[in-house]
Amino acid sequence: MTAQIIDGKAIAQKIKEKIKAEVATLGKKPGLAAIIAGDNPASKIYVGMKRKTCKEAGIYSEEHKLPEQATEKELIELIRKLNNEDKIDAILVQLPLPPQISTEKALNEVAIEKDVDGFSPANVGKLMAGNENMVPCTPKGIIRLLEETGTKIDGKSAVIVGRSNIVGKPTALMLLNRNATVTICHSKTSNLAEHTRKADILIAAAGKPKLITADMIKKGAIVIDVGINKADGEISGDVDYKQAKEKAAAITPVPGGVGPMTIAMLLENTLKLHKERKQK
Ligand code: GUN
Repeated sequence: MTAQIIDGKAIAQKIKEKIKAEVATLGKKPGLAAIIAGDNPASKIYVGMKRKTCKEAGIYSEEHKLPEQATEKELIELIRKLNNEDKIDAILVQLPLPPQISTEKALNEVAIEKDVDGFSPANVGKLMAGNENMVPCTPKGIIRLLEETGTKIDGKSAVIVGRSNIVGKPTALMLLNRNATVTICHSKTSNLAEHTRKADILIAAAGKPKLITADMIKKGAIVIDVGINKADGEISGDVDYKQAKEKAAAITPVPGGVGPMTIAMLLENTLKLHKERKQK
């Protein structure tokens, strides 16, 4: 069997066009403020791609750069200023932050009505309680890919490899909300393959190139690869794609799978926050 290739790029493009058409009907542009603290090269690339896609969809965006040595106070002051700026509907604090800044404290400062990533404690709590009003972009994109490919989630065994606050944990909650039986594996899981081989839906979000080999995949599984790893000058996911696609029923490529969906969901969340603020 050769797997269906889940074309995240094409699905994201359709979502972007729909958002662009809706934005064109609005009197005022939705506005996103992205904050980068420090010199993380991947963060710079991600924020650059997010802003480019905003522009293409007619969404206003601005970037705020803070140096690697920035203090927690400086970041908090910036977030508070953006919380009060009318043209800004959505605030994105790109992670990771430099080590001297508490991620928890910083994310707690983002006003809930501008929390485009769904990372503030209030939105994390809502998701935990089954309220998906504002959920993180990558998990939302993963669920959308599963829906777009007609994957039934209810009653399925879903295994997530990775327990980050950005991907693993919120994806697990979203799958649980849809009645999957969910297992979260991580770097300390003994006998990872024993778990992954039971997955009808396998989500690889560990950040380790080619961690998931074909022998770890159940025949006919749906495989979503969240990894974006730079190894030996090439980009590869967490899944050994070439072999895995002979075993899975459907699989996302890297690049062109989850990555573009994360950005499409950011646009969707920004538009949603804009519309909700206008109604107030
Ligand atoms: N770092 C890695 N992924 C993300 C994301 O989706 N949002 C933010 N803010 N930071 C990230």
